Amino acid sequence: MGSRIVATGRATPRTVITNHELERRMDTSDEWIRTRTGISQRYTLCTGESLVEVAERASREALARAGMKPEDLEAIIVGTVSSDFGFPSFACQLQHRLGLTSIPAFDVAAACSGFIYALSVADATMRAGEWSRVLLIGADALSTMVDWNDRSTAVLFGDGAGAAVMVSEPGQRGVLGSILRSAGQHWDLLSVRNRGIQSPIDAEARTNQNDAIKMKGPELFKIAVKSLEDITRRVIERAGVTLDDISLIIPHQANLRIINAVGERLGIKPEKVFTNVDRYGNTSAASVPIALDEAIESGRIHDNDLVLLNACGGGLTWGANLIRW
Ligand SMILES: CC(C)(COP(=O)(O)OP(=O)(O)OC[C@H]1O[C@@H](n2cnc3c(N)ncnc32)[C@H](O)[C@@H]1OP(=O)(O)O)[C@@H](O)C(=O)NCCC(=O)NCCS
Repeated sequence: MGSRIVATGRATPRTVITNHELERRMDTSDEWIRTRTGISQRYTLCTGESLVEVAERASREALARAGMKPEDLEAIIVGTVSSDFGFPSFACQLQHRLGLTSIPAFDVAAACSGFIYALSVADATMRAGEWSRVLLIGADALSTMVDWNDRSTAVLFGDGAGAAVMVSEPGQRGVLGSILRSAGQHWDLLSVRNRGIQSPIDAEARTNQNDAIKMKGPELFKIAVKSLEDITRRVIERAGVTLDDISLIIPHQANLRIINAVGERLGIKPEKVFTNVDRYGNTSAASVPIALDEAIESGRIHDNDLVLLNACGGGLTWGANLIRW
């Protein structure tokens, strides 16, 4: 028995912040942001908005497309580092909004790799026969964690949620394998040291800059490229297929230059790599499921295609999932 994604959904906060809007707020330019990152705009959560509500919209869309009701679910797993509370978890808050009362619901904290990790956990547990219908979410709001005076991080991040409904199923289709990696020795390349202290774009400036995202961008860039190339090759090799067999790679949408560098090292044609970082920025754990949902919607994925998901993020964490669609 394996596990298969049968439907996806996505949702964003209402507010779009373009690069030109950022030009008015800080010493940056549309040209710099686009050439260094590929980003043109991002969605940001504003004061009074709730990321759980955004995740609920993505979840209900995925459930409707799967022809299911919330009551059909047997577990909820959320990849996130953006819960409003220390606890209860984001997943428990989402469970409550979906009107569910007793199924297991929990978060997986792996920063930008959160969805990849959550998918691996869901697949393993479903293979063990524990659950047969699981709601998987990637949701983050890192724009609320930046220092809006720090142009080297503030321009990169956006907010949103992506959802996938997984069912257990016999046969050749579904998740073929996942590989997860972490390297805690690199924790200080990307961190938020004071959990939960939010500063949305429309709020007062942070009083303590130490609460904000700290990132060593150029070092992270190099490790991300190497790790993503390595994990992609490993998951493909373990499944006994080749890079030529892959129909589409859906990478974490952090930076177009990282995506292109990994593609070049792998020798993959650009048309086999899905990107939407231009419209969303880096939405952390939400980026892969949002991109997956857009790839399906735009007809880029067909039955029996081999689809590869990968991501790298704070922790450091990284990983990949290989799926026979
Ligand atoms: C952050 C990142 C885009 C910076 O690009 P870079 O080419 O490495 O740029 P640098 O940090 O070397 O900075 C180059 C210059 O641009 C400036 N700069 C930084 N941010 C800027 C901005 N938003 N607008 C204008 N100039 C900016 C720097 O101050 C620096 O100026 P200097 O040369 O006068 O000192 C890049 O390192 C990156 O993408 N790293 C990975 C980040 C990431 O994806 N993190 C999440 C992974 S999950």
